This record gives sequence, C-alpha cells and structure tokens, in this order.
Amino acid sequence: MCGIVGYVGPRQAAPLLLEGLHRLEYRGYDSAGIAVQRNGKIELRKKAGRVSELERLVKSRAVSGSLGIGHTRWATHGGVTDDNSHPHVGGNGEVVLVHNGVIENYAALRSHLTTKGYVFRSATDTEAVAHLVADCLDELTRLGEDPSSDATCVKAVTTALPNLKGTYGLAIVFRDCPGLLVAVRNGSPLVIGVGEDEHFVASDASPLVGHTDQVVYLADHEMAILRADEFTLIHRDSGVMTPDVRVLEHVPGEADLNGFPHYMLKEIYEQPQTIENALRGRIDEDEATAKFGGLNISTQDLRRIDRIVLTACGTSWHAALVGEYLLEEFARIPTEVEYASELRYRNPPMSDRTMVFAITQSGETADTLAAMRECKRKGQPTLAICNTVGSTIAREADGGIYLHAGQEIGVASTKAFTSQVTVLTLLALYLGRMRHLSEPAGRRLIGYLKEMPRIVERTLQCHDRVREVAEKYHEANNVLYMGRLYNFPVALEGALKLKEISYIHAEGYPAAEMKHGPIALVDPNTPSVFITPHCHIYPKVMSNIEEVKARGGPVIAIACEGDEKIASIADDVIYVPDVEEYLQPIVTAIPLQLFSYHCALLRGCNVDRPRNLAKSVTVE
Ligand code: G6P
Repeated sequence: MCGIVGYVGPRQAAPLLLEGLHRLEYRGYDSAGIAVQRNGKIELRKKAGRVSELERLVKSRAVSGSLGIGHTRWATHGGVTDDNSHPHVGGNGEVVLVHNGVIENYAALRSHLTTKGYVFRSATDTEAVAHLVADCLDELTRLGEDPSSDATCVKAVTTALPNLKGTYGLAIVFRDCPGLLVAVRNGSPLVIGVGEDEHFVASDASPLVGHTDQVVYLADHEMAILRADEFTLIHRDSGVMTPDVRVLEHVPGEADLNGFPHYMLKEIYEQPQTIENALRGRIDEDEATAKFGGLNISTQDLRRIDRIVLTACGTSWHAALVGEYLLEEFARIPTEVEYASELRYRNPPMSDRTMVFAITQSGETADTLAAMRECKRKGQPTLAICNTVGSTIAREADGGIYLHAGQEIGVASTKAFTSQVTVLTLLALYLGRMRHLSEPAGRRLIGYLKEMPRIVERTLQCHDRVREVAEKYHEANNVLYMGRLYNFPVALEGALKLKEISYIHAEGYPAAEMKHGPIALVDPNTPSVFITPHCHIYPKVMSNIEEVKARGGPVIAIACEGDEKIASIADDVIYVPDVEEYLQPIVTAIPLQLFSYHCALLRGCNVDRPRNLAKSVTVE
C-alpha cells in the first residue's frame, strides 16, 4: 500500500522516480508525486490520479536535480486530492518526505504542532511527520547545530521517530542539506539499491531493476543514510551496522505484458508454467513424497506437530482453506485457517507442537506479518508460503516455501492462488508420508500432480466459452457462487474475483448452506455459479442446483468434460478437465478468473487497477 521511491546519484532524478512509480503503481494509484532537490531548493510536483497524470504534469513543468523522492498513494487518512498527495512538506520547506504506513497518533501530533504555529495543508497523517521532523531540526538549529550537516538532519529524524506511534517507511530529503537522502523503516517495507556512485530506495525491488542488482532490505528500526557515494546503515538500538548486500534475482521481461492486453490475463495464462515452477525439484519419486529446501525444521520436529494453523488474507486465505482440507485429508493433522487480521489480536491456545504457516503472495501484508510475529513471539515454529523473494515475511519466518510464480502485477491475484494450492498439496503429501499416508497413495498423488501443468493448459481452452457466458450475465447486479468440499473455497474465491474487478456484488457459499439464507436472494436476475465437477457428493450438488432452478434462478455450472447430465439442468455450462477431487480447485478456479476478467472488461472496469484496492496491503 503506497509505493515509495528515492534516488541520489549523478543522473537526473525525475525520470528515474517516474519510472519507479510506474513499477510501484500496483501498490496504490490514488495520487502520485515527486520532489526533486536542486540549488538549495526542493521542487514538488504532485497530483491526484495515476502516475501517467503526474508524468504529464512533469512534462509540462519540468524539474531537474539529481536527488529526489516519489510516492504513489493508496489513501488512508484524507481524501484523494492534490493536497493530500505526497510528498509532504514540513516547516517552511526545510523537510520534504514520503510515507507508507499509518501514524496512529497523528491527531495529537497535529494539534501539538498547530499550537506551535505549524500550518497544515493536508488532511493526512503524514504531514504531521514532516512538521515534526522540521520542528526537531529547528530546535537543533536553535541550539547552534548546523542544518546543512548530515549529522544534524539525521539527528532531527532520530529525535522525531520515538514520538511516532504506528507504522512507517519514510524517505526524507532536506532543503539545506544537498545530496542527503534518509530512509527509515518501522513496519512498512523498504529496500536500498546500491549502484555505482548512486543509491536508490524503494518499497520493493521493482524500481531498481535495470539499474542495480545489489540490494539491502531494511529491517524495522533501521535507517539508511544515503549520498551518491555513501551508505551508512544504523539500527535504533545497535548503532552502525554492516549492510547485508544481496543480489537481486530478476527474470528479464517479467514485468512486460508480452502481447496480453492486461497483466491479469497474462498471469492467468502463465498458470501452466507457474504450477510447473511450484513443483520443480520438489518431488521425491524414490520415497513417493515431496521435498523442500527451506523449511529449516527437522523431520523429528515435524513428526511432533499435532496442529497446524494457516493464516492469511484475501485470496491467500482462500488457498489456506483448500490447504486445511488437504492437510487434514492427507496428513491427518488438525488444521485451522485464521484471518491474519483476527489472529494478530486473538489469543488462541497454541503449543510448541502447533506449526503456523503464513500464506502470502507479496510477503508484505501488514496483518499477515503481524499475525506471524505474534505467533513467533509465543514460540510457535512459524513458516511462510510466499511468492516474493526477500520480502519481510520471507525473511522473518523460521523457514518456508517459495511459490516461484514470478512477479504478480494484476491487483486481483490469480496465478499465486493456484501456486499456493499446489504447494499446499505438496506439503500435505510430505507431512502425510511422515505419518499415515501409504507409499502407493503418495505415488498416485505425485502422478496426478505432475499432470497438472498440462491439465491447466487444457483448462484454458474454456476461455471462449467463458467469454460467451460473461457476455450473457455481465449486467447482473448480484451473483451467487456455490461449491462443496474442495470447491467451497473456490466459490469464495470466484465471488471475490468478481467483486474485486467488476464491482458486481457476489457471495460465495457452501452449496448446501444456501438454504440457510442466500436462497432468499435467488430470482431470475441473480445468476448462481455452481462449481460442480465430479465428486463423491455430486448428486447432492445436483439437488442444490434443482433448488435454485425451482425458484427461477439462472444457473451457470462449472462441470467436468463429458458431464451431459448437467447440461440438461443448468442454463450454461463451462466444461473443465476431470481431475481428482482434491486437485479440482486448481482447475475450477481458472474459468472463474476468466469470468471475472470478462465481466470487468464488458462493464468498462480497469482490470489491473480496480478502484479502492491495492496489490500489497501494508497497512492494517
Ligand atoms: C490484497 C490483494 C489480494 C491479496 C491480498 C493478500 O487484498 O489485492 O489479491 O490476496 O491482499 O495479499 P498477500 O500478498 O498477503 O497474498
């Protein structure tokens, strides 16, 4: 949520900042702005709207200078206006900063600073930080310190920080201290790019690609003091530290559309490959089990585990629900799925035999991170199933499994979901084979799993049919999604996808629960999507469909190839390949992803940048 970028070096800052903001736009796109320092002045350009609008503004009113900061906003405090756009100015312009996070005590700070004469121009929490740093700088100057020295500016920041309650990633420049860029983190991600006589700071590594592959991930309470040719890293408690410089892994062309009109569609079509990636090197044919490189937990300890908690948000939470079914079925370990936003404030009984998995595409979701930290604090082994290498959750977990799905840019998660389910299937196999799962059963599961990339490729052939169905139903105001067993989480995910990008109200339900409420919504204008591939309770799902038909509700069925019976009951059928029940979510999710995509297009919605949403939710 919110993207930050900063640059100091020999090159012009503005084009680099704008390029970086384009790459970070998935984090928020309510407004964007940059500030560039030159000749004792800091010039700002900022505007409500997309980065492209800021770009137009900068074209018409150029800024030059080789030190600057930029921001793309997902509004938390204060509406979407030019004034509320970052960067924000402190004092009389001596401090300019950008912020990702939430300052919880901003109201108290604001009234204190207003009393002292500071004038607020925005309704944001961030402006209080800018004035606070300016106030600390002013105080130091009055005590005789030099405001043009690095030491004084850094001291102003370190004096201000203990007064902030909440989360922040900040990039700060100072009018009177040319060439100095300060970045500090508490709860919101920041990465430093180390180039030749230049440094970058950004919310994630994407703005650094093509400029440097040397990166340093900041931990909480770390501050980077950057000049073109200097980088000092300071921890609040331990003082000066040696930066842990890592090499950024980057797949060339990953952020290109490769001929697709939208990232979401591109990512849907990547799924045969991403599932292959999730499986690669993780199958142990000899032992008929799975293998993982980074769990960092001994087989002995894994055997002691008697309970698993999966915690996540959004689509990752739906993948976790599929995981619960898989882990209980194959590993026979009692498993619970917790919303991270709830778990972080709850106090459920857990023991050192409870293993916690944080499931996250970005590795930066604030609630998932907080829930994971809370579990770690209580001594649970805490692992991550994560896509983004080097993300905070990946770094802080005791161990984990990467998805290797490549960067997911479309705000609505697609390929990450099927990769998460693939990894959870491997995990269930692995833990199962340590316990009750027989060798032939493990071998069978492996055989089916290895087929999945090819099956998903074939599933994508339903695309034209899905488009036709979307054309028929995209004007609906409400859609119900129903599935049972492994397809219940898919119903939730299908409904979420439709809501997220086409703004159609949708609800997912276990099909039989329909009778306890949602059936009241059924009418000729409310289509019900039944996810009903072959399963051992197929006849029961058929009865649920009949109940909807009896009340005049149109039915769209996602069914197995060759199922002719369903065609005589449902109004429209989308066929997908027939796979084992426990692998169905990987297949049945795909037509629902495509359905939401086409409904959104037909309704004129912005598929990759849906309103009010952000890809990476780094605030509570
Ligand atoms: C946001 C995104 C969703 C995502 C959720 C959890 O809401 O828009 O697509 O599922 O965050 O994100 P995570 O990165 O933790 O999986």
